[in-house]
Amino acid sequence: MPKITFLPLRKTVNVKPGTELLEAASKADVEIPISCGGNGTCGKCLVRIDSGEVDFTSSGILSRTEKSEGYVLACKTRVLDKPIKVFVPEQIEDKEGKFTDTYDDIGLVRQELFPKNCQFDPLAVKWVVDVPPPKPEDGLSDLDRLTRRLQLEWGKKEFVFPLDIIRQVADTLRIQDGKVTVTLVRGSDRYYVVGIEPGDSTFRQYGVAVDIGTTTVAVQLVFQPLAKSIATRTDYNDQIKCGLDIISRINYAKRPERLAELRLLVLKTINRLIKKACASQKIKKEEICNAVISGNTTMIHLLLGLNPDYIRLDPYTPTILNTPNLSAVDIGIDINPKSWIYISPGVGSYVGGDITAGLLCTDLASDTEDINLFIDIGTNGEIVVGNSGFLMGCACSAGPAFEGGGIRDGMRASLGAIERVEIDPETGMASYSTIGNVKPRGICGTGMISLLANLLLTGWIDSAGKLNRTRTCRAILNDESSLGF
Ligand code: FES
Repeated sequence: MPKITFLPLRKTVNVKPGTELLEAASKADVEIPISCGGNGTCGKCLVRIDSGEVDFTSSGILSRTEKSEGYVLACKTRVLDKPIKVFVPEQIEDKEGKFTDTYDDIGLVRQELFPKNCQFDPLAVKWVVDVPPPKPEDGLSDLDRLTRRLQLEWGKKEFVFPLDIIRQVADTLRIQDGKVTVTLVRGSDRYYVVGIEPGDSTFRQYGVAVDIGTTTVAVQLVFQPLAKSIATRTDYNDQIKCGLDIISRINYAKRPERLAELRLLVLKTINRLIKKACASQKIKKEEICNAVISGNTTMIHLLLGLNPDYIRLDPYTPTILNTPNLSAVDIGIDINPKSWIYISPGVGSYVGGDITAGLLCTDLASDTEDINLFIDIGTNGEIVVGNSGFLMGCACSAGPAFEGGGIRDGMRASLGAIERVEIDPETGMASYSTIGNVKPRGICGTGMISLLANLLLTGWIDSAGKLNRTRTCRAILNDESSLGF
């Protein structure tokens, strides 16, 4: 197998001839941005072949100079039976992101989670019971006595105990003279026992709310007894490196191994945030017995490892809109493994559970006859209009417009993005600033809007966006952060 060396990091990997360069990079743990999901249209995966030969499917988006200098698109290049050296230009995103809304609000801001018309009704609750000691004359087992006690308080329904909980029953009952806390999930006709602890631990009852965005993932840790948020953590969705928008991710997921990769990446993001939120409040992740997840339809498909391709193809049919309750261990969420996960239902391929969850948190659908508008602008943007009598929703791609999508040097608002441009009306001299005050790496949506606004205000373009060719240049480039027009 030929050896592939990635420069300047000098990371190497051996792969079979015919392997895509992008896949080789991933195996060598070298990050190459792939905004279009490997479709050969964004040009972000540009690399230079410094030695050796490759099979490159020529792409019209490369300039003649780039081609003559040995640049290729990693997503359209395959390895031949010879070693090669590949130079990856500096394209590193700031991994930490620029989120500043991470906070712990216990004792500070008691954040109200629910609108007044909603009830806090988690799937799993903790319940403390005093189980009487065993008596030789009644012949009841530990499990019988526990079940009878629960039925006394919760009604004569069936209580389902999984084997690993049954294994804990005997010892747990004897630690505090029969006082135990049982975590119960209410099914329609029975209760499922998902945890048992000695004594009264009802004051340690937590849940997590997870919002999976195409670009960002947010996790809120909830203290259930008070129905309050106690910590929030946000970060970029690790899937970003596989495509910036929904369609790019769907394209990327066409191969089963890539679909699996996307699933693991979003799980990694969620579990990392849960771990951080738990660490901030000194709680164990096993103490979390509820999780609610919302996300657009594609994100939910990727989380569950479902092929999202039919969401993109006419007649745009998803595999699932209403997800049955699944266990944390089935999905891969790192909390009490037996907890059930509630995934908010979607309405259509592009109006997902993030919108239904958002609507639930407003009074729009239930309280008013006035017509209201609900707008969620994310990488995917959705709008719902209506009142208590009807709701109509639609969606379209919004993020790329704000994140420099489709622009050669466009980028997300991260380290090195030009975010502000000013043009002196007298001299025509432009100055700019970048996020982090570092060397510019591209321009983000805010920078583009700022640039266009200044070009318009100073007469360099007209209201239709056309360049004013009658204006002349009076200034020249005079320092690193100024441009002359
Ligand atoms: S051109 Fe290769 S990822 Fe977009």
